[in-house]
Amino acid sequence: MTSPCPHQLDRIMAVMEAAFDPAYGEAWTRRQVAEALVLPSTHALVVDAEGAPIDAGPGPAPAPAGFVLSRHVLDEEELLLIAVVPGARRRGVGTALIGHLLAAARTRAVNRIFLEMRRGNPAIHLYHKLGFEPIGERRNYYRMANGTRIDAITFARSL
Ligand SMILES: CC(C)(COP(=O)(O)OP(=O)(O)OC[C@H]1O[C@@H](n2cnc3c(N)ncnc32)[C@H](O)[C@@H]1OP(=O)(O)O)[C@@H](O)C(=O)NCCC(=O)NCCS
Repeated sequence: MTSPCPHQLDRIMAVMEAAFDPAYGEAWTRRQVAEALVLPSTHALVVDAEGAPIDAGPGPAPAPAGFVLSRHVLDEEELLLIAVVPGARRRGVGTALIGHLLAAARTRAVNRIFLEMRRGNPAIHLYHKLGFEPIGERRNYYRMANGTRIDAITFARSL
């Protein structure tokens, strides 16, 4: 087992802290991300405000604007989290992240991508636009910070 690059973890956490509304309790902790990335099946991709990938490692790098985390199992991949900092939204960064994810997933011989979203998340527009289709629901799956329950909707897209 190897530890994930701390610089890439810093970049992911900077976006995480800016992007997720605490009301929904969706953000992961640094520890959760680090533990996920120890697994060879979990992948992280970080991009700048132009949607260009930022390589892991130290050294000069542009400010991170978004990331996507995913996990593949055999020929299927799950998009675990996607986020773009508020100041860089609606400029194609989320679209670029999913584009990079689809390209990387193809190199892993994946043929179907899944994701799960809380009902009412405007991210649904991004997923629809990029060819994801709803395939199921889990009633009351998520629990908000105030205790309210929200349904999860599962989407899938073939590669
Ligand atoms: C969802 C998210 C990643 C989208 O990132 P983004 O960089 O703004 O996405 P894009 O600019 O590529 O959007 C592409 C298209 O998706 C749709 N879209 C994206 N966000 C939208 C929104 N808030 N409302 C309506 N449509 C939206 C639009 O059609 C948009 O195209 P347009 O701007 O030309 O109309 C970003 O809003 C975010 O980080 N949200 C908070 C974290 C989150 O909820 N993540 C998803 C669950 S893990």
